[in-house]
Parts: sequence; C-alpha cells; structure tokens
Amino acid sequence: MTHRANIYRLSNPANQDKVGRRMRAFEVLVNLIGIVSVSVGTLHDLSGESRALAATITGVVAALFLIEYLIRLWVAPENPHFSASTSAQTRIAWAFSPTGIIDLLAVIPALAVASGEARLGADSASVFVLLWVSKLATRASGVALIARVFHNERSALGAAAALFAMVLFSSATVAHWLEAEAQPQFFGSIPSSLWWAVVTLTTTGYGDVVPQTPAGRMLGGLVMLCGICVLALLAGILATGFAEEVRRREFMRIWDLVAQVPFFSDVGAIAVADIVGQLHSRSFSAGTRIIHKGEAGDSMYFIVSGSVQVHLGERTKILRDGDFFGEMALLERKPRSADVVTLTQCTTLVLEVADFYRLAGQQPDLIAAIETEAKRRRALNAAPQLQ
Ligand code: CMP
Repeated sequence: MTHRANIYRLSNPANQDKVGRRMRAFEVLVNLIGIVSVSVGTLHDLSGESRALAATITGVVAALFLIEYLIRLWVAPENPHFSASTSAQTRIAWAFSPTGIIDLLAVIPALAVASGEARLGADSASVFVLLWVSKLATRASGVALIARVFHNERSALGAAAALFAMVLFSSATVAHWLEAEAQPQFFGSIPSSLWWAVVTLTTTGYGDVVPQTPAGRMLGGLVMLCGICVLALLAGILATGFAEEVRRREFMRIWDLVAQVPFFSDVGAIAVADIVGQLHSRSFSAGTRIIHKGEAGDSMYFIVSGSVQVHLGERTKILRDGDFFGEMALLERKPRSADVVTLTQCTTLVLEVADFYRLAGQQPDLIAAIETEAKRRRALNAAPQLQ
C-alpha cells in the first residue's frame, strides 16, 4: 500500500482500527479546543495575556487545520467517491464537495494570519466558531445519522409540520377574533397574533403576550394541549426513525461481516438474512481469553478476522478467519472443553445460545455442518497421540 493510500485509510471515518479512531479523536479534540479558544477570545473582561494565549491557540488550531486540508487534498485521489480520470480532477472534485468547502473555510484564519490581514482571538474571529462547528459536524458520524433519519422520515415529518402549521394559523386567526379588541397591539392582525400562537403552541410560554378575555384564555389552554400532542408526535416519529435506522445500519454491518465468513457462503440470501438477525459482532484484542475451560457455554463465535489458540491440555490448535469455536458446549450442553485465547486482534460474530437453538429450527443444514465439525474435533481430542 502506498503512503498516500495509508494516510487516506487512516483519515477515512469508515476505518475503525485503533490508530484511525485515535486520529479522529485527536481531530475532534483539536476542533473543540479551537471552538473554546475562539469563544474565550470574545470575552470582554479578559486580561491581555489570556487574550494573547487564546489568540495563539486559535492560530495553532487554524494552522493544524491548514495542514490537515492540504493532506486531505493530497489523498483525495484515494477516495472511491470521487472517481475522476486524473488525480488533479479528483482533487478539484473533493475541493468543491461540501466537506472540501467547509474544510477550506475552516482554514481561512490561518490564511488570514499568513497574509497579515487579521488578528486572531478578537471578536472578528468569532465567525470561525460557526465554521469549526460545521467542520466538527462533517466529522461526526451521528450528524450523518440524524440527516438520514430526517430524510427517511420526511413524509411523516412533513405531515406533522403541516398539522403544526394548521393549528398555528387557526389559533392565530381565532385569537385575533377574540383578543383584537382587548389587545390590538398584540392581536390586531393575524401576523401579530402569530407570535403568541407560536410561543403557546410550542409550550414555551414567555408570558409577554397573554390572552385577557375568558374565551381567549380557553383558546390558549386548547392550543397548549395541541402543542403537546404535536411535539409528542414529532418526538415519536424521530425516535422510531432513529431506532429503525440504527437497526438497519447494524444489519448491514453484520451482513458485511457474515459475507466474510466462508461457512455462510453456501447459504442463500433469505437464510443469510435470518442468520444476520441473530448475530452480533464483538472484537477482542490480542491475548484475551474468550472462553474459559469448565465454564458454562452461553454462545459460539465465528472468526471474521484474526486468529485464536485453542488450549487442549498439552496440545494447542490455531483457528483462523472463517473458523468457528464454542459450539461444543452448546451442542452437548456441557461445560467448555478448552480455553480459547486470541493470538491477534480478532473480530468475531457471536451467536448466543437461545439464537443458536432458534437457528437450529430455521436452518437445520447449517447446524448439521457445525455438528459434523464438532464431532470431528471431539474425535481428535479423544485421540491423544494425534496432534
Ligand atoms: P467449547 O467446548 O464450547 O469451548 C472450547 C472450544 O474449543 C470448543 O467448544 C471448540 O469450539 C474448540 N475446540 C475444542 N477442540 C478443538 C479442536 N480439536 N480443534 C479446534 N477447536 C477445538
């Protein structure tokens, strides 16, 4: 792998290895430090030294962002989303993408300092709080998730927004009829009544405009109740949308992992969907004892990547990508027959005991294949002279 490909891999948010995660955490930390230093720089009663310190930190953060921008521009040709014919074209495509534009805007303080046109840390730099928050948003996977949920639920959210608008305009109109005479300055027209309607419907209740007629107050109570219902509806739509999106993403992630285990390669797509629903992933660092001999077995493991060592008394056995272990205790309902320790960092798919028996009913062929391998292992273990 070239240096450029390596650096791209490390900076890619999809990369979940330790170094990549640490680099992203560092980037977020620098971003947060930058936001805090710019914010602190806007305090009026700050001493001269503190202001200078805040300005220096802001400058350092901006300089780091400049370096990061140049690196990202350099590695852009490695990004599969920008498939242009030449490296220069790919870099231009990245530079004009939303991420590229935000990253460029985020380094403007550094460019300004370099050209001697601006002093950092002053009120004028406060605009960079917004830019750096946007930069942070492009890095946070949660933001993409929220955007996806809003997109998925757009029709339900649209219906709730339409309901909100209907109640808003109806209540502003009725409030105008009921209150215009008593408080013409607040309810003299429908647009001016809208302020009261928004404040009441969202249950904010500043209390700056209050209906005075008995009918107006009754309307106020009704609008508050409607507000609670509409907000509850919105919260329900978003909560369901989130749960569904998270489940869908987890399903796709497990699906990808299952595709890497040859044991499942002969199973049809429908059966794989069954299996994916029952598995979850777990990663272990090197030297972890996943299975302790003599313990009760509550799950079995499929190795997606990495290797483990099975300790069988004097002998050991190494299992690698695509192998499985922990099946014997589930099949025989006996304690674990050996210790299993990871030799390298391992990603596994875990099948819990209850799901194992459920799967046995749904996919008998699959469990039969596991049983055959367990029988072979048992015979091997019973023959002391064999390795
Ligand atoms: P279990 O008994 O649940 O826990 C220990 C696991 O080690 C066992 O299931 C098997 O999956 C695995 N194991 C035992 N013997 C062998 C062997 N000879 N070769 C490979 N794996 C084994």
